[in-house]
Amino acid sequence: MHNDETMNRRASGTAVELTIEEIGGGGDGIARHGGQPVFVPFTVPGDRVRATLEARRGDGRAASMVALLEAGAGRAQPACRHFGSCGGCALQHLADADYAAWKCGRIGQALARAGFDDVPLAPLARTGVGERRRAGFAAWRRGRRVTVGFNRRASHDLVDLAECPVLAPALFALVPLLRRFLARLPGGDLALDAVATVLDGGIDLLLVGPPALDLVMREGLAEFAEAADLARLSWRPHGLAAIEPIAWRRPALVRFGETAVMPPPGAFLQASRGGEAALVAAVLDAVGGAARIADLFAGLGTFCFPMAEQGGARILAVDAEGDAVAALAAAARGRSDITGVCRNLFRDPLGAVELAAFDAVVFDPPRAGAAAQATELAGSGVPVVVGVSCSPASFARDARTLASGGYALTGVVPVDQFLWSPHIELVGVFRRTGRAA
Ligand SMILES: C[S@@+](CC[C@H](N)C(=O)[O-])C[C@H]1O[C@@H](n2cnc3c(N)ncnc32)[C@H](O)[C@@H]1O
Repeated sequence: MHNDETMNRRASGTAVELTIEEIGGGGDGIARHGGQPVFVPFTVPGDRVRATLEARRGDGRAASMVALLEAGAGRAQPACRHFGSCGGCALQHLADADYAAWKCGRIGQALARAGFDDVPLAPLARTGVGERRRAGFAAWRRGRRVTVGFNRRASHDLVDLAECPVLAPALFALVPLLRRFLARLPGGDLALDAVATVLDGGIDLLLVGPPALDLVMREGLAEFAEAADLARLSWRPHGLAAIEPIAWRRPALVRFGETAVMPPPGAFLQASRGGEAALVAAVLDAVGGAARIADLFAGLGTFCFPMAEQGGARILAVDAEGDAVAALAAAARGRSDITGVCRNLFRDPLGAVELAAFDAVVFDPPRAGAAAQATELAGSGVPVVVGVSCSPASFARDARTLASGGYALTGVVPVDQFLWSPHIELVGVFRRTGRAA
């Protein structure tokens, strides 16, 4: 142990020449050195690089490229001046076709590791430049210096954004306005987090900052809402849950199918309209004419309202976030086809008796997946189960649980709505065959 640590410390800082073989799950190129994987950010397969070995990382080692000695075939010119220093994007340097293949490959590899070798994968549904409608910025004022942007790569520092090709132009337009607002505000140093979403009525902005909002700050915020032409501005003190409305200038609404929902400030929303449309189309296709559907981890009703509109289905929508369920239920007020329920599906998943009431179940959990709910579904008789996921690994684990209960994974639709990041989303369709696999 002692010897290993000493050797590791000695290896750090060593200059080596490496040939990149593949791109790993986090988007870094992977080479081999001394039989171990070495992770080199911003490289592509075929690159020959001079690199400096750094700290241990998993079963290998991190490294930084010092010089590109020979470029692999799949290199592209990054689209943004901040690429490499900004923590937002990992893959702008990769040629487009290789990028799309790598994203789909992440799903194929996760499924293969879970024992699914021949699941049909639909073509990648893609979103492009300027389509992100939701972003979290940080904004600092330190002395006379004001910085607004995203976290610097592997750092708590910030990149002061001069551009961001990923964001919807209306979202990026907030950056200089936030900068001006902070620069003019009286007082000392300040750190804010900002969650901004493009809604139908304009930008919905939630600022998270110091607990005490004095009158000057309150007036400054109201003026900022005017200057930035925000639909809604809300304030949440750091570390607290309570949200205070500051300005409400236009209805803050988002439309799912034909239904308008008023999201609580900062609520989860799919990252882009195009990505949401691809996910919804895949879910609608899978549930077809099902008459009774459970929409689990339903959020504000992204799938629930379009499903109700498609086939006249009756829908039970379940989510643990009380404010989201309240918004969904308020939008469904007066109609008998949708019921919203607040329930923690990790601790208290729908059981076999409850599931017997449904012809189809959709589940769209957070990154951790839906282990407890998948176990209950595996023992159910629901004919069609549709999984929506932002994590191929937890999806594959839950898919294995469903397969062991007699479900066949009949197809997967990959959706890329986090352009140039390592993230990928998917919709997987399971049909009950009765045979455990
Ligand atoms: C990826 S979002 C999907 C939301 C919605 N389906 C959509 O597409 O907009 C995951 C949802 O799971 C909910 N959630 C997280 N943990 C949960 C839990 N333990 N039980 C139930 N819902 C949970 C979150 O509130 C969030 O709405």
